Amino acid sequence: MKTFYIETFGCQMNAHDSEKVIGTLVSDGYTQVPEPAQADLILYNTCSIRDKAEQKVFHRLQQFKKEHTGKTFGVLGCVAQQEGEKIFERAPFVNLVAGSASYSQLSQMLVQLEAGNRRVTGLSLDNDQAFETPFTRRDNPHRAYLTIIEGCDKSCAYCVVPFTRGPERSRTSESVLNEARDLARKGYLEVQLLGQNVNSYRDPSPAGWDFARLLRAMGEIDGIRRVRFTTSHPRDFVKDIVDAIDENPVLCNHVHLPVQSGSSSVLERMQRLYTRDDYLRRIEWIKKARRNIAITTDIIVGFPGETEAEFEQTLSLLEEVQYDSLFNFKYSRRPNTSALVLGDHIPEEEKTRRLTVVQEMQRAIQIRRNSELVGSVEEALVEGYNQATSQWIGRTTQNRMLNFIHPEFPRPLEGATLAGKYSNVRVTRAGPNSLAGERVN
Ligand code: 5AD
Ligand code: SF4
Repeated sequence: MKTFYIETFGCQMNAHDSEKVIGTLVSDGYTQVPEPAQADLILYNTCSIRDKAEQKVFHRLQQFKKEHTGKTFGVLGCVAQQEGEKIFERAPFVNLVAGSASYSQLSQMLVQLEAGNRRVTGLSLDNDQAFETPFTRRDNPHRAYLTIIEGCDKSCAYCVVPFTRGPERSRTSESVLNEARDLARKGYLEVQLLGQNVNSYRDPSPAGWDFARLLRAMGEIDGIRRVRFTTSHPRDFVKDIVDAIDENPVLCNHVHLPVQSGSSSVLERMQRLYTRDDYLRRIEWIKKARRNIAITTDIIVGFPGETEAEFEQTLSLLEEVQYDSLFNFKYSRRPNTSALVLGDHIPEEEKTRRLTVVQEMQRAIQIRRNSELVGSVEEALVEGYNQATSQWIGRTTQNRMLNFIHPEFPRPLEGATLAGKYSNVRVTRAGPNSLAGERVN
């Protein structure tokens, strides 16, 4: 029996890549095991978006080596792509180094490893094929990731992704819809469309659909109750996407629209291709929709040269937009990126201070935003049960956590559970990061 263990870091794209890698290995006769000690093959799917990703990977690899000598080791994902064959130099016991653009050749790479080849690589980025496999092994029984576009053609000054995931490759609408129909048949209720920039989706088949067209078609699939998508680039975000959401409640009331900075001069240095005003115009489309669409974002503080006045522009943007949630990062230098040549790096303590200021401000905004929902009835898709609080854990269409009590079904019972079902819940309390409530009929 051939066994493997896999550990995954990074974004949803990476998590979903691992699901596809697992599916491929299983169909090639491997069995997944929960502990590295039980495995012949140890795979490590890495992320390099921020901070000292490379050091962390080498540190973890050394640990693996100490505890599991003599096994086959593979490094996958963004650090694999970024460091390439250098990984063999620093960690000579590694046998496979492959980036995501080459996973469609994974089976062939496994054959080479099995044949005793001790240095197998998959590092080419000029592969125009997306990683499509009929054997994806999905983790969540109710919500499925579905890739529509891989790679990225933008060149944001801070971002390593175009180097680690290669150029954009859209899947055909037919193959996306076939996978979605198949998911519906298998009982999935919710699909999350994935891509580094879903808005630049362009169907390579003659139909030539854009993202909004694909979104509308996704909303018509029998059995799929919710469709989400991530992530959007403001430059390619068009009003038609808001119109599509407005037309069909299956398309979730949530847009994640990373702004990065509220200052047009910083945005220009970041090469984001939009100004603060361009961005706010898109926010206005979303806010003017008939449905109440939640808006979330990503913020980077301390980009090289960010002055106090520029930072305050970010704060004023947060005040103006009133995001429902945000991810906030300190700028970190990444290999190959164009921001490396910029001078005037912000001291670490100052970045930390700015991060705290953003977080405190956003916390107050979220308490306010969530409190507005107290008294309303929201539909929650139940994801599980929290023993400690005796509450069901649910999620609203706006992607808010909504924990609730259910008088007739207070806890899971011998195989009977609400997980995977929808409940209407009256919101009774609001915190900064979640809502609480009680099920209503
Ligand atoms: N430093 C800090 N944050 C970064 N991000 C991407 N690259 C960097 C970097 N070098 C953040 C951006 C992006 C999110 C996924 O990660 O905010 O939207
Ligand atoms: Fe990390 Fe970016 Fe790679 Fe995702 S695409 S794993 S966020 S470096």
